[in-house]
Amino acid sequence: MPSDTQSASNVLPSSWRNFPIKQQPEYPDAAHLERVEQQLAALPPLVFAQEIRDLKQNLAQVAAGKGFLLQGGDCAETFAEFSANKIRDTFKVLLQMAIVLTFAGRRPVTKIARTAGQFAKPRSADYEEIDGVSLPSFRGDIIHAADPSPEARVPNPERMLQAYHQSASTLNLLRAFAQGGLADLHQVHRWNMSFVEASPVKERYLKMSKRIEDALAFMEVCGITSETAPSIRETQLFTSHEALLLNYEQALSRIDSFTGKCYNCSAHFVWIGERTRQLDHAHVEFFKHIENPVGVKIGPTIKTDELLRLIEALNPDNEAGRITLITRMGADMLPQALPELIRAVQRQGFDVVWSCDPMHGNTVKTSTGFKTRQFDAILRELQQFFAVHQAEGSYPGGIHLEMTGEHVTECTGGAYEISESDLATRYLTSCDPRLNADQVLELAYLIADAFKHAGPLPDDR
Ligand code: PEP
Ligand code: CO
Repeated sequence: MPSDTQSASNVLPSSWRNFPIKQQPEYPDAAHLERVEQQLAALPPLVFAQEIRDLKQNLAQVAAGKGFLLQGGDCAETFAEFSANKIRDTFKVLLQMAIVLTFAGRRPVTKIARTAGQFAKPRSADYEEIDGVSLPSFRGDIIHAADPSPEARVPNPERMLQAYHQSASTLNLLRAFAQGGLADLHQVHRWNMSFVEASPVKERYLKMSKRIEDALAFMEVCGITSETAPSIRETQLFTSHEALLLNYEQALSRIDSFTGKCYNCSAHFVWIGERTRQLDHAHVEFFKHIENPVGVKIGPTIKTDELLRLIEALNPDNEAGRITLITRMGADMLPQALPELIRAVQRQGFDVVWSCDPMHGNTVKTSTGFKTRQFDAILRELQQFFAVHQAEGSYPGGIHLEMTGEHVTECTGGAYEISESDLATRYLTSCDPRLNADQVLELAYLIADAFKHAGPLPDDR
């Protein structure tokens, strides 16, 4: 008999433990780790299986060209930078961007935040040097503290409990914002208007912003208002993170009492990173046993055969909405790397959402040592993503951004022309450089055109 959704079960997916695994911490006390895993397994799930199924349905629509996916948030959440304002600001900017894309693309936008669980980070090296001292690389607050000392970097399983509780509070506030009036379409558009007014390149966006305003005014005259239509007043926001720390992910998985199937209830959507997607390794094994819609990050070096086998392994029944391929090629590599992959997926008839992460392939280091990304490179990768899909007759279904609602200076460029020497002013990220609120909105207006021409799938023409 399937157990109740609220309780832990001893049939949670543990087979990943028999496979080689990358990017994991080495906990010094195995018994302590096991105690924490049991505590987590007894706690309520963060999300509910039905919500996960709803998201999968939405993504099936996206795969069919009838919707668009907007996914974004911090590279890494931290325990220190955790406040209501920060959650609110990220929520606001995601919604603002969604309005522009909904209007430009004439199709619903499914919103997934990179939050309420985005704590564990893969690293390219096991050790990093800080002030001449070599330390185990920082792998995220869910594992250890970032302080540059060997003691701070010892993995401590108790931090998984703190990550869980922070995720629960974050989700609670996001749900309140989504249902409690902050997401009202009129209000969100008013924020967009003030962004446009204040922008140094205001003329470029004014036309579109006015058209959205007119559309809302017209609807109001027709009686479609916040009072009469809940869809104007409320929205749905899903959560996601890279499911990297499998001890945490297993402990938060639950057997759903309605279907008897296993859902990872730490988030609605989880993804496998570029560094942990080996076919015969633990992460792919874990993902095979959960029902959630899942993402796979795809870099420019993946072989078509490797990609096809990954899709087959994770989605043997070719269920629409199950797989989102998040390409992160880099603006220079995308035109040569992506077409072949698209063709191979089309030949097999695989139903996938293609999403573009224009961040991770465009990271550079400045001469002063800052990790940054140029706004133009990000924009270029997105434009190429739309163009290549159009040329191949496939549907560019989504974008995946590292962004924040705060006024940081982490990515260079944009209308405010953040220069390399400005980066030090407000460089707050604990991991990768994020677009700030102005840059995110600017991007939304700039890709609106490319997006508009993305068009329906060939079958619908
Ligand atoms: C990330 O999304 O923060 C990340 C590490 O991505 P990737 O696996 O694509 O490098
Ligand atoms: Co990142």
